[in-house]
Amino acid sequence: MSGNGNGTEREQWGSRMGFMLAAAGSAVGLGNIWRFPYVTGKNGGAAFLIIYLAMVFCIGASVMLAEFAIGRASKRNSVGAFRKLKGGAWPIVGWLGLIVAFLILSYYAVIGGWTLAYIFKSFTGLMTAGGVEDVQNIFLTFIADPVQVIAAFFVFMALVVVVVYRGVGEGIEKYCKVLMPGLFIILIILMVRALTLPGAAEGVAFYLKPDFSKVTGTTVIDALGQAFYSLSLGMGILITYGSYISNDEDLPKSVATVTFLDTMVAFLSGLVIFPTVFAFGVDAGAGAGLSFIALPAVFSKMWGGPVWSALFFALLFIAALTSSVSLFEVVISYCMDELKWTRARSSWIMGIAIFLVGIPSALSNGAMDIKLFGMGFLDGLDWLCNNLLLTTCGILICIFAGWVVGDRMKKEVTNDGSRPFALLSPWTWILKVVAPAAILVIIYNGLK
Ligand code: PHE
Repeated sequence: MSGNGNGTEREQWGSRMGFMLAAAGSAVGLGNIWRFPYVTGKNGGAAFLIIYLAMVFCIGASVMLAEFAIGRASKRNSVGAFRKLKGGAWPIVGWLGLIVAFLILSYYAVIGGWTLAYIFKSFTGLMTAGGVEDVQNIFLTFIADPVQVIAAFFVFMALVVVVVYRGVGEGIEKYCKVLMPGLFIILIILMVRALTLPGAAEGVAFYLKPDFSKVTGTTVIDALGQAFYSLSLGMGILITYGSYISNDEDLPKSVATVTFLDTMVAFLSGLVIFPTVFAFGVDAGAGAGLSFIALPAVFSKMWGGPVWSALFFALLFIAALTSSVSLFEVVISYCMDELKWTRARSSWIMGIAIFLVGIPSALSNGAMDIKLFGMGFLDGLDWLCNNLLLTTCGILICIFAGWVVGDRMKKEVTNDGSRPFALLSPWTWILKVVAPAAILVIIYNGLK
């Protein structure tokens, strides 16, 4: 282990498996379950899938490898990493990532609270609602109720604090080792249920039938944007997680595993969503509408509805929790390295700070009229973070790893030359040219 500069030893992952489940836990989030299937169905099914796989494995994985390498080479939080490897103005990139992580968590945890509340609501009234309209009313009433949403948000945030407070190995890793296998099991159960519904085949056909006529320039941009968000890139999460990786870990192999797991969950989610909504002829959209309205309406018509519904929201809850934990660790690792706070102190203070900053997001869905960029506050913040901040940070990370500290990065991914990495030269060129150019296109498109 190497010290973190303030006299105490830096924490490390206890096992390779634990680290990969934690990183996969960060990547597997609401985006995999409620966004990926929709984007795929809309963009030509299998045709989109091929493009998505290319984006994830070429560009996404390259940026992930760069983040892990920056983290492990510096053994610092996202700000300290840039300072240690280069200094100058570069720590600003770390700052940007830190701020994005803080802001995203402030509203991501609000939605995490909704998923938690819905596990319980599955057993109290939600499943006896008549049709889609009633379920929609229940949802709109719930998110507009300040008491319920704030309470759920608070509890969710408290759970994030509890996990992170215990530390990297004893907290994040231990919980992810239980939660992630749990998530896979729930996903498989729901998939088997969905695929055995009458009419499931039609849903699968809609999801996967290749339709190349739907592939346009926007498709490629959608694929890249989804890949970037889904792998949790561009906000220092993987730099932070990378800083706890041991020096003999094979970084490219870890990247391949995490990317594979993330893609698998996204793909299988589609096999839950489409057969289910098609079997009952409900409109499949994306996001909150799909998860909190369309699917519960379907479950309510199924035998054992409350159980399917609770399982589905448990799936969303775990996905949201492990992603939130990774966002929080970015902030905590900064407070510990740079402000020299203890983990306990960092966790409580930042937990409360994020809760307070998240209150407008929690209240902006009907309880109060709080706007940002002409949208509800939560949606506006989401737009700002995803379309602008996260992507800008992503480009700068690529440029840093590709042009500024390229040689150091090559040493890092090959473990000082002891583990040859066959794709070293394509990787460098992706970082230097391909990824920054591609991300610029996403930003441009997002601003239009
Ligand atoms: N990767 C997560 C998802 O797919 C989203 C996320 C992004 C989570 C950034 C945390 C940080 O939903």
